[in-house]
Amino acid sequence: MKKFFRITLKTLGIILIILIIGGLLGWWYLSSQFLSFEDDYTEKKDIPELTVDGYTFLDRNENGTLDVYEDDRASIEERVGDVLSQMTVEEKIHLLKGSGLASAMGRVDPEEGIPGVVGTIVATPRLGIPAINLSDGPAGLRIEPTREGVDRTFYATAFPIATLLASTWNTELVENVGDAMGNEALEYGIDVILGPGVNIHRHPFCGRNFEYYSEDPFLTGKIGAAMVNGIESNGIGTSVKHFVANNQETNRNFNDTRVSDRAMREIYLKGFEIIVEDAQPWTIMSSYNKVNGTYTAESRDLLTDILRDDWGFEGLVMSDWFGGNDAVAMVNAGNDLLEPGTKKQWKALTAGYEDGTLNMEAVDTSVKRILTLVFKSKKMTDYTYGENPDLEAHANITRKSASEGMVLLKNDEALPLDKGENVALIGVYSYDFIAGGTGSGDVNEAYTVSLEEGLTNTGFTVNQKAKEAYQKHKNSNPEAFVKPEGMAAMFNPYLPPEMSYDEAMMKDIVAESDLAIITIGRNSGEGGDRVVADDFLLSDKEKDMLNTTCKAFHEANKKVIVVLNIGGVIETASWKDQPDAIVLAWQGGQEGGNAVADILSGNVNPSGKLTMTFPINVDDHASNVNFPQNGLPMQMTDMLFGKDEVPEGEMVKNVDYTEYEEGIYVGYRHFDKAGLDVSYPFGFGMSYTNFEYGEMDLVHENDFIKVVIPVTNIGDIAGKEVVQFYVSKDSTQIDRPIKELKAFAKTSLLSAGATDTLRVNIPVKDLRYWNESSSQWSLEPGKYIVKAGASSREIQTTKEVDLE
Ligand code: BGC
Repeated sequence: MKKFFRITLKTLGIILIILIIGGLLGWWYLSSQFLSFEDDYTEKKDIPELTVDGYTFLDRNENGTLDVYEDDRASIEERVGDVLSQMTVEEKIHLLKGSGLASAMGRVDPEEGIPGVVGTIVATPRLGIPAINLSDGPAGLRIEPTREGVDRTFYATAFPIATLLASTWNTELVENVGDAMGNEALEYGIDVILGPGVNIHRHPFCGRNFEYYSEDPFLTGKIGAAMVNGIESNGIGTSVKHFVANNQETNRNFNDTRVSDRAMREIYLKGFEIIVEDAQPWTIMSSYNKVNGTYTAESRDLLTDILRDDWGFEGLVMSDWFGGNDAVAMVNAGNDLLEPGTKKQWKALTAGYEDGTLNMEAVDTSVKRILTLVFKSKKMTDYTYGENPDLEAHANITRKSASEGMVLLKNDEALPLDKGENVALIGVYSYDFIAGGTGSGDVNEAYTVSLEEGLTNTGFTVNQKAKEAYQKHKNSNPEAFVKPEGMAAMFNPYLPPEMSYDEAMMKDIVAESDLAIITIGRNSGEGGDRVVADDFLLSDKEKDMLNTTCKAFHEANKKVIVVLNIGGVIETASWKDQPDAIVLAWQGGQEGGNAVADILSGNVNPSGKLTMTFPINVDDHASNVNFPQNGLPMQMTDMLFGKDEVPEGEMVKNVDYTEYEEGIYVGYRHFDKAGLDVSYPFGFGMSYTNFEYGEMDLVHENDFIKVVIPVTNIGDIAGKEVVQFYVSKDSTQIDRPIKELKAFAKTSLLSAGATDTLRVNIPVKDLRYWNESSSQWSLEPGKYIVKAGASSREIQTTKEVDLE
């Protein structure tokens, strides 16, 4: 027995030593490849000053004379040309890839970098060219809130998720949010924000839909351009992502999107095209997936022919993190910057230079684009960032924008509420309110206002019986209520389990309260798609909660309101008759609870409208047959180390490849064409007041259809209305959607009885379709009908225009 024990102990000891050595070796390998890839190219140095003709310059290369690129009176083009002419091939190759993931893992000395920065453009110390910091993401800046040895915090504001911002249909407001976000980047020393995300909601289950705007490319483009303009007004860059047709998370690094040219041009590329035209962003991020067999990051057709030659994009393209496969092919195709940069890529590029496969003209072009960004950045000016953005002012902006994007889906005389009422908050998410999704779209905010806190702040009384029931449930499952932090939070949506209410408990709650608010919560993010059970559909517990609450409160003649604290579409048709009102609150950022309270109390009259269809069944979507249904989680190793190509015959449908058989029939384009009923149509959203549309006038002048329409608030309280302009082709020769969104406008806050005259210009070129036989845009001559609607299914007035 003794001997056995000794042997076991010895074996255990050996296993332990092997594990420790293995772990250390693994960590060393990972660190060398991905985490601490800094080399002398990220080194900082103090650059001496040089005085010439009474002006002071930085003598960046320390040669004692004023070089063209050191002279900030010269144009960026001249300065970039000069640096390029002084760079060695090795320096150029270094510039094409970032310095690894060190800072994202918090492994940098604060003096050397900013913890949480997820990528860099490396410095070129010999020439005094500084490093550039890249940080996520679409809902606010993602940096580490604390730093070792530093006695203060570095929180950023969690703004509402992108889907909510788009639901405002208010480009001015989105631009203001972008401005605030860009200001935080500026003040924290970040040069480029990795957003906005502008992929199309092809199917409701994409785990990252919350980071994206809409199922419609026009709305996506206009909201995306406003966001880019807002952020970039600070002298901070954006990276519009993920270019392109990256619509699922399942096998996201390797999936091949098989899609027609027409669907690409009209649906998946369109939003990016509008953003390039309206905002000319500093950068665009290529996506992980392939399109028709080629990684987007290696596609010359997408990155050069379409993006640069067709659209005139002037900025740089960076890869998504560890995206693409062949570094040489990426640079040759026009993917200028490889992020976050690996040693493998560095070696591959150097080998490509030596064997002549790396196109040196492409290298120079990419280096020029990268240097242009560097010269545009604040790092080349004497701007010293203060590290103290006005977080209080930004909290106000986020609260205001959140309430404007919330959508009132139903209201049977239940809302607005009277302040002071005793509200029974039902369901864990009323207390554990969700600010935003997970992954790189998450933000390290200082606080999140829950619905409970928001209602209390607004003057309501939160019912204590209901709160006690929640507290009891939480105390009996303490581990399930621990929020994951750091890397764990990246890929694990925090979803505490829902609670059960029995009739006796509910009776006690009803007796003490004036009404019930049930919150339904959902969360998802990078690395996984959503599923039907307990996600798109309500779970059994949620259904019970809804039934028990509605029964008890309705018997007592009291109202029930459902608040949807979700990041993507859920099923609503089967249960929407039960509650008296439904507020789609989305995920409103750190001030979410206050913003919902603003809507519920009537402090803000709802004016958000849906940017996607809420279908009756998920398989009503044409894309459903070609969308993964089992929510396979992402394999981190695949992302970091790549994966062997799967032979054609062994490819798994919707995993290795996805056929976009529905073509252009995405969202309402499909539901209209197929004549399907929906639960809530694209563009839908109610108000506490009513609007009347006057007569629409239009003229065809030059290259535009100029439309004018008066809208009057005919109710009792002030409100805003979103008017959508759809265009249909009368008697078409081709297969085209019944109608397509071509413009939208939002009224100002109209007081009761007031009228706003909305004006929009629809470019005639926007009525073209992509002609696959000639590979170009074609305009069908003849009559078109402009339709002004309160939603895609509530057309108020129409007018014809002849484009013979
Ligand atoms: C995401 C990008 C993000 C990048 C850096 C990737 O996993 O797909 O959207 O910007 O990581 O965090």
